[in-house]
Amino acid sequence: MKLFNFSLKDVTTRIEYYSRFSPSPMSIKQFLDFGRENACEKTSYMFLRKELPVRLANTMREITLLPGNLLSQPSVQLVQTWYSQSFAELLEYENQCPEDPRTLNNFLDTLIQIRNRHNDVVPTMAQGVIEYKEKFGFDPFISSNVQYFLDRFYTSRISFRMLINQHTLLFGDGINPAHPKHIGGIDPTCNVVEVVRDAYETAKILCEQYYMLSPELQIHEFNTKNPSRPIQVVYVPSHLFHMLFELFKNSMRAMVELHENSREGLPPVKALVTLGKEDLSIKISDRGGGVPLRKIDRLFNYMYSTAPTPTLNPSQAAAPLAGFGYGLPISRLYARYFQGNLNLYSLEGVGTHAVIYLKALSSESFERLPVFNMSAWRHYQLGPEADDWSNPSSDPRDVSTFKANT
Ligand SMILES: Nc1ncnc2c1ncn2[C@@H]1O[C@H](COP(=O)(O)OP(=O)(O)OP(=O)(O)O)[C@@H](O)[C@H]1O
Ligand SMILES: [Mg+2]
Repeated sequence: MKLFNFSLKDVTTRIEYYSRFSPSPMSIKQFLDFGRENACEKTSYMFLRKELPVRLANTMREITLLPGNLLSQPSVQLVQTWYSQSFAELLEYENQCPEDPRTLNNFLDTLIQIRNRHNDVVPTMAQGVIEYKEKFGFDPFISSNVQYFLDRFYTSRISFRMLINQHTLLFGDGINPAHPKHIGGIDPTCNVVEVVRDAYETAKILCEQYYMLSPELQIHEFNTKNPSRPIQVVYVPSHLFHMLFELFKNSMRAMVELHENSREGLPPVKALVTLGKEDLSIKISDRGGGVPLRKIDRLFNYMYSTAPTPTLNPSQAAAPLAGFGYGLPISRLYARYFQGNLNLYSLEGVGTHAVIYLKALSSESFERLPVFNMSAWRHYQLGPEADDWSNPSSDPRDVSTFKANT
C-alpha cells in the first residue's frame, strides 16, 4: 500500500522517528508576537513542517495503545487512515526548500486540505466508541482508558488546528475584513462580555426554535485590575465562544424543561465575568434544577455520554440543544488547552454554576499538550487496582470481611 509518495513502511518508520520528539508548546503571547512582528512565512513553514508531524506522530503512536476491540471498529480505522494520509502529505516537505515560492504555496494548500480532512474527527471517533459499546458493553477499565485517550487525542487535534489556522490566516487570504485587528485567530483585545452576549444570543435562537421561549440574560463584570474598564483578554475568541455557547445551551435546556409550565415564568440565566491578577473567570449560573454530585463526573465522560439513547418514538428525538453529549468534555479541553479549566458546581434541585477559568496573562497561557512517553504508555497497561476506599455495599456486620482485611 502506498500513501502519497511513501510506502506504508516508510510512513511507519517516520512516525516512529517523529514520535521521539516532544511537541513544543507555544504561549498565546508567542503566537501573537510572531504574527504581529513581521510574520515570516518561511519561518512559520520551517517550524510547522517539523512540529505538525511531531504532534501527529505523538498522537498516532498513542492510538495504537487503545484496546484491540476498539481499534478495529470501522470508524476508528477511518480516523487512522486520515491521520496516516495527512502525516504522509506533510512528509513531502521534509526536504523542500522554503526559498521556492511554490513550496510555500503548496504547503498552504496542503494545510487547508488536512484541516478539511480532519473536520469530522470528533463525531467519527464518537461513532467508534458507540460501535464498540454496542458490541462489547460498558467496562470501567476500558472507559477510563478511553477517557484518558480521548482527552489527549482531542487536545492534540485542537492544537493541530490552532497551528494550521494561524499559518493559513496569516499567510493565506490576508487581513480578515470582519476582524482587521485579529492576529490569525487571536484577538489581542477580546472583550469577554461581548463574546458572552454573542454566545447567549446564538444559543437563544436555537432555544426559541425548539421551545418557543428562552431565559433572559443578566451580565455583571468585576474588573479588579481596572474597575472602570471592560474586561479584555488576549485569547482565541472562537474557543471562548465555543465553551460559552455549550454552557448556555445546557443551561437554557435545563431551565426551560424545569420551568416550562410554572406560573412564575422563567428566571434569567446569569453571567459573571471577573478579572483578578492571575485568573479571568466566567461563571454561568442557571436555575435549571441542577445535577446530583454523584453524576457530575459522568457528564465529562465520553463513554457515558455516547450511550445511544433509546428513542422509541421518532418524535421524541433529542432536542437540538443536546447532541451526543460531548459539549462539556470538549469545552473543558478548550479551557485547559491554554492552562485554564472548566468546572461545574451544582446545587441539586435548584441549579448549576459553570465556571470557565482562563489565564489573565497571555504569557502564561501556554499550550497544554499530550506527550507520548513511558508514563503515557503505562496508563494503558495497568489493570484496574483494588479499591482502597470502603465500599458502601459491604455489610458492616460481616465479621469475616473484617477479619480478612486486618
Ligand atoms: N446546566 C445544566 N443543568 C442541568 N443539567 C445539565 C447542565 N449542563 C449539563 N447538564 C447535563 O449534562 C449532560 C451532558 O451535557 P453535555 O453538554 O456534555 O451534553 P449534551 O448537552 O447532552 O449534548 P451536546 O452538548 O453534545 O449537544 C446533559 O445532557 C444534561 O443532562
Ligand atoms: Mg450540551
